[in-house]
Amino acid sequence: MRKRVVILASGTGSLAQAILDASDLDIQVVAVVSDKADAQVLERAKQANINTSIVELKGDRPEWDKELFDQVKKYQPDLVVSAGFMKILSAEFVSYFPTINSHPALLPEFPGAHAVRDALAAGVTITGTTVHWVDAGVDTGPIITQMEVPVLPGDDEATLHERIKKVERGLIVATIALITPTLESISR
Ligand code: GAR
Repeated sequence: MRKRVVILASGTGSLAQAILDASDLDIQVVAVVSDKADAQVLERAKQANINTSIVELKGDRPEWDKELFDQVKKYQPDLVVSAGFMKILSAEFVSYFPTINSHPALLPEFPGAHAVRDALAAGVTITGTTVHWVDAGVDTGPIITQMEVPVLPGDDEATLHERIKKVERGLIVATIALITPTLESISR
């Protein structure tokens, strides 16, 4: 049986699109869940006939954590893929759902929300992208795959991030292919 995947994303959704387009994967994307009602990724999901849910943070963080948990649980995923989701997931969430994240730097270097800016500021000549299991920390979980990406003279945050994202789109798809056979189908 194909593994059920929920994608979490907050913005443009080009990584989510790469997963939706990867017809060779032994998965079924059962939903795209966003914390932003106007995120372009929701349009992409609708175009692909994928269910969408929006869980906006309007005040109380524990309440939002619970709502996100409940929304995702409804879709009974075997795997959750955080692909440009700009919020930290609760410890309860990541201990219940096997969750991977794509990060635009070579972890453990440059964790957090500004990885590309931080790599540029540090003056590195090589950065990259990492797919890792998500634990209760911020970008601290076990690394599954990584690819290097060069920083070129004249790069700004936008040009470097776009070069990284080209690699990220391939790496997230390849990594899902790698881990799919290891996932248990659990009816949660
Ligand atoms: C990707 O570079 C992803 O690694 C990053 O957001 C971008 C999403 O691009 N995520 C983080 O920085 C999370 N800390 P997309 O909206 O085009 O898929």
